[in-house]
Amino acid sequence: MAASTESRHGMWSSRWLFVLAAAGSAVGLGNIWKFPYITGENGGGAFVLIYLACVAFVGLPIMMAEVLLGREGRQSPINTMRTLAQRYNRNPLWVLIGWMGVLAGFLILSYYVVIAGWALYYVSEMANGAFYQASPETASATFSRFQADPLQMILWQTLFMAATVFIISKGVIKGLERAIRWFMPLLFLLLLLLLGYAFTTESFAEGAQFMFAFNWEDVTSRTVLIAMGQAFFTLSLGMGAIMAYGAYLPASASIGSTVFFIAGLDTLVAVAAGLAIFPIVFANGLEPSQGPGLMFVTLPLAFGQMPLGALFGTLFFVLVSFAAITSAISISEPALAYLVEEYNAKRGRVAISLGVIAWILGIGTVLSFNVWADVHIVGSLTFFDFVDYVSQNVMLPLGGMLISLFAAWGLPRTVIGEQLGIQSGWVNVIWKLLCGVIAPLGVLIVFISTILS
Ligand code: PHE
Repeated sequence: MAASTESRHGMWSSRWLFVLAAAGSAVGLGNIWKFPYITGENGGGAFVLIYLACVAFVGLPIMMAEVLLGREGRQSPINTMRTLAQRYNRNPLWVLIGWMGVLAGFLILSYYVVIAGWALYYVSEMANGAFYQASPETASATFSRFQADPLQMILWQTLFMAATVFIISKGVIKGLERAIRWFMPLLFLLLLLLLGYAFTTESFAEGAQFMFAFNWEDVTSRTVLIAMGQAFFTLSLGMGAIMAYGAYLPASASIGSTVFFIAGLDTLVAVAAGLAIFPIVFANGLEPSQGPGLMFVTLPLAFGQMPLGALFGTLFFVLVSFAAITSAISISEPALAYLVEEYNAKRGRVAISLGVIAWILGIGTVLSFNVWADVHIVGSLTFFDFVDYVSQNVMLPLGGMLISLFAAWGLPRTVIGEQLGIQSGWVNVIWKLLCGVIAPLGVLIVFISTILS
């Protein structure tokens, strides 16, 4: 059976549109909210370096593998894996990659929407000038007050979920292009502005030092696991999001350079966000390890000090919300595409059911910050911590490892050559080495050392 050249869900009109969509998926809360706060919790420099290594040696090959498999299968990740396993006489159990991805997607979407709701709330706060000349205490208090109020949080979660469902019911291709074309450059611009502000504080050097000074003593196997999980999360890997998008990629586009560009852009945004946030942390005597509230306490402080701060601050949180929605769309796509294929269902209906399930799950995250703050699922992990930990640090790396193994060893050489656009012996060797050995071995070593410690 020959591979098809079209997907029933539609096709990106060009390679460039795929780049926009995949970058929209990759750049999100993971870069601006999560990367700085887990860097802060894990001691800074050592974490950042390991994270960068994970992006380069594990993330890049696995992203290529996802795009390649998606384009070869041209369906939702579940049906892509099923079809490819059949077509090339592999074990039908490979389809489990797709199922695990759908499950991980639900878990991630459930809390992602809650945090994106926080960003929406900050749009309104900023627009009201709530942080004008605010002190660190006021900024912290505003955030704590918001967190203590589950109803308020649910309201913003609901708004964000409704917006996500609305967009995905229209189809990923329409709508995405216009949004991303505008917001990406703007987001960059505002990050640069914040970076400029951070540079003017007397603590810029301290912030940069915190991010880049490498200390071996800070490294534990847990640090490495979290850095790897973050690499997967921020690049949207391991759950089929990029595979789903790859299914809509025209056959002629080059996978290697495309993936390189997306990962580079994603890394740049994360590093810029860290460099903007940590100097503000130190200049105001705040704690880098304060957790999920980090961005919501530091950046309002910066905007509160700037001329036209309310305007820039509002715009910034609008952009963060946009960045989050283009990611949320891609988190939903694997499940959505599967249900549409399987039941011939209307996208709109499927989108609503999916949104409702993730919304209900998300209530657990909302309560983790107030009513259930002292309820621990395992160890000291709240419901949110637990869902986040399992999806990001276990399911995504595991999924990614299996994806890369299949892409390297499960496909015939000619198919790999065709997809990568180069038919020569050495390409196949490099591919097998990178994608079939180095990337999965990296994940395996981190898993084993975490379990042993
Ligand atoms: N990469 C997104 C971010 O950094 C999150 C994401 C995870 C998107 C998994 C898709 C799949 O915010």
